[in-house]
Amino acid sequence: MPAAVSVGEGLARGPEGVGRQAYRGRGVSPRLHSPAMTDQAPLRAFSGIQPSGIVHLGNDLGAIRNYVALQDRYQAIYCIVDLHALTSTHDPDAMRQRTREMAASLLALGLDPARCTLFVQSWRAEVTELMWYFTTVTPVSWVERTPTYKEKRESQPDDINHGLLTYPILQAADIVLYKASLVPVGKDQAAHLELSREIVRAFNYRYGDTFPEPQAVHTEAPMVLGTDGVRKMSKSVGNTIEILAEPDLIRRQVMSMVTDTQRIKRTDPGRPEVCNVCQLQRFFGPDFEELWEGERTARTGCVDMKKLLAERIVRHYAPARERYRELMADYRLVEGVLEEGAARLRPIAEATLDEVRTKIGLR
Ligand code: AMP
Ligand code: TRP
Repeated sequence: MPAAVSVGEGLARGPEGVGRQAYRGRGVSPRLHSPAMTDQAPLRAFSGIQPSGIVHLGNDLGAIRNYVALQDRYQAIYCIVDLHALTSTHDPDAMRQRTREMAASLLALGLDPARCTLFVQSWRAEVTELMWYFTTVTPVSWVERTPTYKEKRESQPDDINHGLLTYPILQAADIVLYKASLVPVGKDQAAHLELSREIVRAFNYRYGDTFPEPQAVHTEAPMVLGTDGVRKMSKSVGNTIEILAEPDLIRRQVMSMVTDTQRIKRTDPGRPEVCNVCQLQRFFGPDFEELWEGERTARTGCVDMKKLLAERIVRHYAPARERYRELMADYRLVEGVLEEGAARLRPIAEATLDEVRTKIGLR
């Protein structure tokens, strides 16, 4: 199986490169069987997202749009990964608050509890048992070479906790506890996904075929650049556009974006292919090619382009912003969704663990 697949109209397979070429044209044809096309039970999709406090444009364009799209075609399971977040967040109140905010954000952005299962990772703690079994098939060298582990060693040198090393093993367990094979994620998760596949192969090799090898599913924007125009959009870098924040904050964040650095004077022709603002216009209107032409001929300037993008982002996410406010004001509904989600998954998690315990000789 290929390491990444595409899924449906308008959603494309992730390219290899990182950076400006990362945003690709309209989608390629789907390579997966939709449930309607086969007699088999629908494939399962699973993804996890950290309770980081904010949802940014990279999360939505790179992953959440696919979470929403996959709901209709597969059995979709989405998880707020609080256990993973403990490797960097140590404030209990922040943890609780951010978990709530992420749950409300995902529902506001289009996850529908009637068509998918949304839950909080620690509420289905069976995953930690599976993770332990996986640690015993995973060579230490595999986790030590994970790029995110190396990055964390740099970014939090005073807190290189063991969870950072085990992080991708827990991620593998997340996915296959539910025997999911499709994983909608951004490009930054490629190394984690590859490791998940290796862990699954190592387990299947030692104990017999048990788990499917998970595959990444990318959108056509698998690596959204931040407002600096250089690095991946990320809360830890501080280069985000917070899509559910107040419109004024969104405007400020968009207006701070770095454009084509070689376009010095207003009359210089712009280069839409290297300008992150122009690239992002792709996702907020069908007229982006006309806008690009305006840039190339210097009919429009960078400031015009940023103002337009800001207004389009504000408008596009206005219904979600409204829904987010409502959900946060009456959180019981969200709580109910999360409880129901965790309860629904219990039989699947227990069945997998029963099977595994027998296969490895604990029963
Ligand atoms: P995180 O906030 O790191 O838990 O990421 C949640 C999801 O958003 C993951 O699937 C990431 O791959 C995806 N994601 C995060 N940042 C970006 C980005 N700048 N571009 C594309 N996808 C992203
Ligand atoms: N590591 C992912 C991130 O930082 C979050 C995650 C945890 C995840 N478990 C997962 C993603 C399982 C996909 C599948 O974004």
